[in-house]
Amino acid sequence: MEQGWEQMKDSLQRCERCGLCRTRTQAVWGVGNPRTKVLLIGEAPGRMEDEQGEPFVGRSGQLLDKMLAVVDLDRKKNIYITNIVKCRPPENRDPSPEEIAACLDYLREQTRILSPKIIVCLGRVSATRIIDPAFKVTQEHGRWVEKGGIHMMGTFHPAALLRSPANKPAALEDFLGLRDKIRQLCPEVYEL
Ligand code: URA
Repeated sequence: MEQGWEQMKDSLQRCERCGLCRTRTQAVWGVGNPRTKVLLIGEAPGRMEDEQGEPFVGRSGQLLDKMLAVVDLDRKKNIYITNIVKCRPPENRDPSPEEIAACLDYLREQTRILSPKIIVCLGRVSATRIIDPAFKVTQEHGRWVEKGGIHMMGTFHPAALLRSPANKPAALEDFLGLRDKIRQLCPEVYEL
């Protein structure tokens, strides 16, 4: 891995760019195989993630892992998962625009180093920041766009699927579309 990656990961734990540093247990950098070409981006750590230092380890993470497994994707093997904001907003509120702006350099650097061919935005906060400020998950989920040579898609946040399980089949369709996209653009991901 490039040296800048480890340096930035270490410096994240000392980050004071926004007020979330005062209430976090730890910052959450990301998890996965840095050699992948598929990057999943969520919103921000919740309570369990803040405690354990890994994204999506709570109930919504368990659902995410299940959907990933259906399309032979695994955080321990062939994808990378991170969040727009690296520290937990208190009471799991949405991160503010200021907190997102303060944190974005970390994601930019992660994206530069990983150099993904595919990005999946998990939920509104991620999709509106990365794909389109007007992105509507219920209407535009699963739709692929290309920006700067990276193919991107937004889908339901797994926590939203826990609240509205009726959307699970649609989310699964999105993940099947992701599998097709990987086979088309970077089949080597399935050899990792
Ligand atoms: N929700 C997110 O968006 N990210 C996490 O890491 C956990 C829950």
